[in-house]
Amino acid sequence: MGILIAFYSRAGENYFGGARRRIAVGNTEKAAKMIADVTGGALYRIEQARPYSEDYDACTAEAKADLQRNARPEVLNLPGDLDDYDEIYLGYPNYWGTMPMAVYTFLEKYDFTGKTIHPFCTHEGSGLSGTVGEIQKAAPGARVKSGLALRGSDVDGAKNALAQWIKAGQ
Ligand SMILES: Cc1cc2nc3c(=O)[nH]c(=O)nc-3n(C[C@H](O)[C@H](O)[C@H](O)COP(=O)(O)O)c2cc1C
Repeated sequence: MGILIAFYSRAGENYFGGARRRIAVGNTEKAAKMIADVTGGALYRIEQARPYSEDYDACTAEAKADLQRNARPEVLNLPGDLDDYDEIYLGYPNYWGTMPMAVYTFLEKYDFTGKTIHPFCTHEGSGLSGTVGEIQKAAPGARVKSGLALRGSDVDGAKNALAQWIKAGQ
């Protein structure tokens, strides 16, 4: 049985320790690719049909509005099923203390019974917040592991930490 690395990530303007920078590849995407290198798993990007703005302030406002109305944004190219996978690494940035709402769109589409989900989150201080419990609630059949939080601005140096985490099976 296979490994899937499903991730949400956004390129564009972001905030790094007090400064704004434009990045071509998002932090969570970088971590997802490192996990793919280590595990050989397949990558799937959770991509919104209508992406949030490249502008940081506009993006935070759009994401907050979607959170407040408990939206389920349309996601492109959702796999028909996840039958080929029993281990799922689920990556997302911490948005307003939770996950981007499109990650809920992804989770609620499938029956995760018998599957293991390994959450990994990038953030700028909030860590995983309550996301492990939120994943368990959205995917009640899954075995949800304790997960890994990486500071987004440190992700370039995170490959060893990721490899150790993968080895530990969390
Ligand atoms: C809309 C939005 C909301 C965010 N909310 C939080 C937050 O509540 N706590 C936190 O630590 N970081 C927060 N961040 C920072 C991101 O979690 C962090 O920059 C992350 O690494 C971005 O991942 P990405 O580059 O893969 O999209 C937020 C960023 C955005 C754009």
